[in-house]
Amino acid sequence: MSTKPQDILLGVDVPIDAGLQRAAGGPTQAIIDEVRASGLRGRGGAGFPTATKWQLAKDATGEAKFVVCNADEGEPGTFKDRVLLTERADLVFEGMALAGRAIGASQGIVYLRGEYRYLRAHLESVLSARRDRRVLGTAILGIPGFDFDIEIHMGAGAYVCGEETALIESLEGHRGEPRNRPPFPVNTGFFGQPTIVNNVETLALAARIVHRGGAWFAGFGTPASRGYKLFSVSGDCEKPGVYELPMGIKVMELLELVGGLHAKAVQVGGASGRCISRAEFDRSLCFEDLATGGAIMVIGPGRDMLRVAKNFLEFFVEESCGQCTPCRAGNVALLEGIELLIAGRCSMAHLHELKSLGETMRLTAKCGLGQSSPQAFLSIVEQFSDEVLGQQPRA
Ligand SMILES: Cc1cc2nc3c(=O)[nH]c(=O)nc-3n(C[C@H](O)[C@H](O)[C@H](O)COP(=O)(O)O)c2cc1C
Ligand code: SF4
Repeated sequence: MSTKPQDILLGVDVPIDAGLQRAAGGPTQAIIDEVRASGLRGRGGAGFPTATKWQLAKDATGEAKFVVCNADEGEPGTFKDRVLLTERADLVFEGMALAGRAIGASQGIVYLRGEYRYLRAHLESVLSARRDRRVLGTAILGIPGFDFDIEIHMGAGAYVCGEETALIESLEGHRGEPRNRPPFPVNTGFFGQPTIVNNVETLALAARIVHRGGAWFAGFGTPASRGYKLFSVSGDCEKPGVYELPMGIKVMELLELVGGLHAKAVQVGGASGRCISRAEFDRSLCFEDLATGGAIMVIGPGRDMLRVAKNFLEFFVEESCGQCTPCRAGNVALLEGIELLIAGRCSMAHLHELKSLGETMRLTAKCGLGQSSPQAFLSIVEQFSDEVLGQQPRA
């Protein structure tokens, strides 16, 4: 597979507002159709088809509709959205305006991670320049009825507020706790109105797709995972950073690019993702194989895998909102189990219980946080059983 950059988001020649110029005056359905033709799936992790989300919101009825840009970026190991907001804010806002045009929303909101407060002044100045250029505000590009503006709402440092329904609760001024789904935000979102929540990268890509056409984007990647993707690469490698690569690239190819071929393991998808050993380095980064929002942590040969798992579990114990028992109590129990494993005092029977608890959490936790938090632990126990079990009593 070619790993050559295609200047999709981070290349030197990415034009501003070309998608808006091309599509704003045409039928609104054409915007969604172009996104559908691209095969774009959400870049926030879950990979929901973007056009389907937009169509559902377009077809929903409400007094008002909203476009929310999820810029919470709280997953440990993820920093690609920060780069986009720093270097390509115009493209993100263009994508939001196109989404607004497509679904019939006149208000956009950027939910900005609390730790990115330093970016706010920059983003406000980009918004202000856009109003001056008539690509934001009333009668965008002089088109009567195309009214769309964007405001920035600061998060306050809770990881769970990246989950779209907790994010909406937080926007409404409540505690950031996930809602029951259904109903889904496309029907009942911000203050009960149809709302789309999209990742920063998804929105920027939508702007490029509307400019270049869905077929152009669909020409890259794999059948079920079209296009390019930003990967945040960190850890034990020579060249950490943000890489724009085709979907479907193999883990080994990525490691070669970043100078991490010596890796013992790779954590795919941040703390909530899966840890793979060298035996799986020929697997592909795409929705049909190793799905990821883009966080790739390279784990070098000197690392203790139980301490890696402990580090992630400590994060989840801290960040669980506490609303449901599998997550609130389960993460604590898993962390205690890891401490026993590190001390060499975990019996096989107890390890079996811990694995079963992890599976129960996956199936019964209310939101993605508790459903995915056992994943790193479970995969480390499975993939590094010699290292994990070496010190334990046999009973
Ligand atoms: C605990 C948790 C945290 C999340 N954090 C983020 C985040 O920071 N950014 C993001 O785009 N999506 C995050 N998501 C996924 C969102 O709920 C949602 O699926 C996403 O914003 C949809 O956008 P997309 O369709 O463009 O991917 C998180 C999900 C969970 C369960
Ligand atoms: S899974 Fe965790 S974060 Fe999600 S609702 Fe339950 S307690 Fe809260």
